[in-house]
Amino acid sequence: MELAGKSIVLGLTGGIACYKAAELARGLVKQGASVQVVMTQAAMHFITPVTMQALTGKPVHFDQWDARIPNNMPHIDLTRDADAIVVAPCSADFISKLVHGGCDDLLSTLCLARPSTLPLLVAPAMNVEMWENPATVRNVRQLEQDGIAVLGPDVGDQACGETGMGRMLEPEDLVEEICAAFQPKLLRGKRVLVTAGPTFEPIDPVRGITNLSSGKMGYAIARAARAAGAEVMLVSGPTALTTPAGVQRINVQTAEQMYDVVMSHIDTQDVFVAVAAVADWRVANLSEQKIKKTADDAFPKLEFALNPDILAEVAALPNKPYCVGFAAESENLLQNGAAKRQKKGVPLLVGNIGHHTFGKDQNELVLFDEKGHTQLPLADKQQLAHQLVAEIAKRLA
Ligand code: CTP
Repeated sequence: MELAGKSIVLGLTGGIACYKAAELARGLVKQGASVQVVMTQAAMHFITPVTMQALTGKPVHFDQWDARIPNNMPHIDLTRDADAIVVAPCSADFISKLVHGGCDDLLSTLCLARPSTLPLLVAPAMNVEMWENPATVRNVRQLEQDGIAVLGPDVGDQACGETGMGRMLEPEDLVEEICAAFQPKLLRGKRVLVTAGPTFEPIDPVRGITNLSSGKMGYAIARAARAAGAEVMLVSGPTALTTPAGVQRINVQTAEQMYDVVMSHIDTQDVFVAVAAVADWRVANLSEQKIKKTADDAFPKLEFALNPDILAEVAALPNKPYCVGFAAESENLLQNGAAKRQKKGVPLLVGNIGHHTFGKDQNELVLFDEKGHTQLPLADKQQLAHQLVAEIAKRLA
């Protein structure tokens, strides 16, 4: 519930991406936001106010002269208690209006009349030629100069049958971007590399050894670091998770591949957060062909070799980034966590309380540093990730 207590004015302008605005409204509500929808006449050609009202639980506004508002000034009243205005989809025409201060309907008037401290975020959605038209290019540049956040657009197939830039970001990515907009930019200008998920160590072409890590904590940290303004690279073992918006993800399978990718990018990083559950051993005598079942007592004999310890090796580099390790312990967390921090040579180590965290959405953490340990009580992994990012930023400063 990252948007709990936040009030968002969601503006819809004309475009086929209006169908995605329904999902966006739902996503914002799911995150705890109170959503007030305002639609232009053009938007109502694509989706009805009834749909948006049902999803947000509030009557939709589309009329500047709406008698429901006691003082008949919806363009003022609707934004004074708001925490952000989001226009999604934002048409080329509406971008042009924002740039030039046009105000010939409720939504554009409301945007022009917004308090200067109220964030305005827009998610452009239009045909590729419209997006690439020099007029739109100029307008978007101007929007950014005016302090309006431009989210997307994305590249891909368009409803009109053409392909290119101009698709509105997917609703889940927009929800992420809107959540991120409310986070303090504690890591602005920093580069953060996160490892996440399990590794998979093959035995033969169809079998392998892995573990129960879902990757959720690592992905949450990547998302939180990006929301804090960092440039984030996520080196991920096999997971079923979607890449956090704005994060560069590199997929790997084995510990050795993870090691190679990390080492080839570590020079330019300010922070390294090793969340991955890296296999300590790999199969040394892996078979190129599928191992066949033979007589009952002839079990295959696996031999193991030690995998590189990625965290320890990064922490030993002469120009190392700020290193944060994780510890999965099934017993004596306080003792083992403190010892592991020393052994890995890292300033900060994060212990999972209870070893049943794998795959869960919640967690409880203990932070070990040179002063001792502090506990982060049970919470959603995403919330813990924001707290951890704040702890890292504090120590970096
Ligand atoms: N780690 C790593 N490379 C490895 C093993 C672990 O980078 N080959 C990192 C993990 O990402 C984590 C930390 O080291 O941040 C601790 O991992 P953990 O599995 O708890 O500890 P191990 O070092 O493997 O020690 P043990 O299994 O004996 O507890």
